[in-house]
Amino acid sequence: MRYRSVALALGLYGALGLCDAGPAPAPSRPPRPALQFLRAPPGGTWAQVLQGDRVFHGERAGGRCSACHGWDAKGTPTGNDLTTGLWIWGDGSLRMIKATILHNMAVAPGMDGALAPADVDAVAAYVWALGHQTR
Ligand code: HEC
Repeated sequence: MRYRSVALALGLYGALGLCDAGPAPAPSRPPRPALQFLRAPPGGTWAQVLQGDRVFHGERAGGRCSACHGWDAKGTPTGNDLTTGLWIWGDGSLRMIKATILHNMAVAPGMDGALAPADVDAVAAYVWALGHQTR
C-alpha cells in the first residue's frame, strides 16, 4: 500500500514534467512600474513618489497595496488597475486619490498597513504618477 502511493506520487511527479525541470524557475512577477516614466504630481514631490513606490510594494510602513493592485499596479482579481489614467472613484486628482486611499483604509483596517500621514501623501503621489505615465 505504502509502495503504491510512493509509485503514484512518482508517476504524478513525472507526468507533471517535474523530473527534468532543472533548477526551479524564478517566481514570475510582473515588472515593477519603471521610475523613468513617472513624474511628480502638481502639489507633490519626486521624493514622495519614491517613498510611495516603497509603501506600495510593501517595503515601508507595512503597505500592502501591491498585494491587491498588483506588483506592476495593473490590477489583480482583488484590486483594480491603477495605471490606465481612468478612475472609478473621483477625477484622478491627487486630492481625490488621497481621499480614496484614506476611505479604503477605513473600510479595510489593517489591510493597507500602518501608514503615517506622510506615507499616505507619498503613496497618493505615487498612484497619481502611475496614472500619468509619460509613455
Ligand atoms: C485588500 C485589497 C486592497 C488593498 C490592500 C489596497 N487596495 Fe486599493 N482598491 C482595492 C479595490 C478592490 C479597489 C476598487 C474599489 C471599488 O471599486 O470600490 C481599490 C481602489 C483603489 C483606488 C481607487 C482607484 C480608482 O479607480 O478610483 C486607489 C487610488 C487605491 N485603491 C489605492 C490603494 C493604495 C495606495 C493602497 C495601499 C496603501 C491600496 N489601494 C491597497 C483593493 C485594495
